[in-house]
Amino acid sequence: MELGTTLTRFLIEQQRIHYKEATGDFTGLLADIATAAKVISREVNKAGLIDILGFQGSKNVHGEAVQKLDLFANDVFVRTLSHTGHLICMASEEMDEIYQIPEAAKKGKYVFLMDPLDGSSNIDVNISIGSIFSIYRRKSSGEKATEEDILQAGSNQAGAGYVIYGSSTMLVYTTGYGVHGFTLDPGIGEFLLSHEAITIPNKGGIYSINEAYTDRWDQAIRDYVALAKAEKKTARYVGSLVADFHRNLLKGGIFLYPPDTQYPQGKLRLLYEAAPLAFIVEQAKGRASTGTGRLLDVVPEKLHQCIPLIIGSVEDVKAAEACFK
Ligand code: AHG
Ligand code: MN
Ligand code: MN
Repeated sequence: MELGTTLTRFLIEQQRIHYKEATGDFTGLLADIATAAKVISREVNKAGLIDILGFQGSKNVHGEAVQKLDLFANDVFVRTLSHTGHLICMASEEMDEIYQIPEAAKKGKYVFLMDPLDGSSNIDVNISIGSIFSIYRRKSSGEKATEEDILQAGSNQAGAGYVIYGSSTMLVYTTGYGVHGFTLDPGIGEFLLSHEAITIPNKGGIYSINEAYTDRWDQAIRDYVALAKAEKKTARYVGSLVADFHRNLLKGGIFLYPPDTQYPQGKLRLLYEAAPLAFIVEQAKGRASTGTGRLLDVVPEKLHQCIPLIIGSVEDVKAAEACFK
């Protein structure tokens, strides 16, 4: 489709091509996500002003308490998505329990999972941060959602995506028919198609890992990093997963957050970070692994479970996996 096409038009045309029986429910949900992304993007762009506009007692100009941006982002998604009839529940890195759609609201068939603000340590230094989301169809059939709706293998995802608040704001998503990227035109407040059918190069020139933790790694990871250096890859590590992933997706490369002595299961969260990005990377013809198997095959056991993540270009991820064997 022509570059510059609006997200709304793109979603409608994709629905017509790939989901002949669709009710529009899913397309509506993606449109809601885009709305939430715009609100968060606006707030992220003002982040440096919060201390100036927020006043001492943490009240802002509107008399509302100034919230940490990750809680703000969580609230924006909850408020934007909970009353439009597409969801049965949500779960988030920022909420201890499953969030049930309120009794009074219309319920839908989808489950929404999110890391509302990823890379929070980078907010106050003006470095790219993001939001990550994942969508499943519910499995239970009662009034309320159950854990069974949430604890599904990543391969069951109906959709996944992220928003990167960088030098421009971009929304990248997949519904299982390729990966598409849209850039927010701040002048008109619309996401416009800028990257259609993204594919990650088969092999890349970048490796991304927090190398300060070398002492905490086991031999397999040390071996792989030595190999990456021998292949003359360059190191890039932002510390915002979305930003590291996005760069590697476009340029080719590998990102690793392995198990280590401090985080024996890795640090990244399966449901809110690893599984959605794994779905995206596979749709972009890349690969995502736990080191010992395909990440999308992992069936979560609990809501906030962590998982080792090795993700990126096929050849590079395979080379890392070989070090684990
Ligand atoms: P979050 O801000 O959502 O808690 O995620 C932070 C994550 C991720 O974005 C990043 O890749 C990783 O933490 C960085 O961890 P280290 O500082 O341990 O490298
Ligand atoms: Mn995160
Ligand atoms: Mn987060």
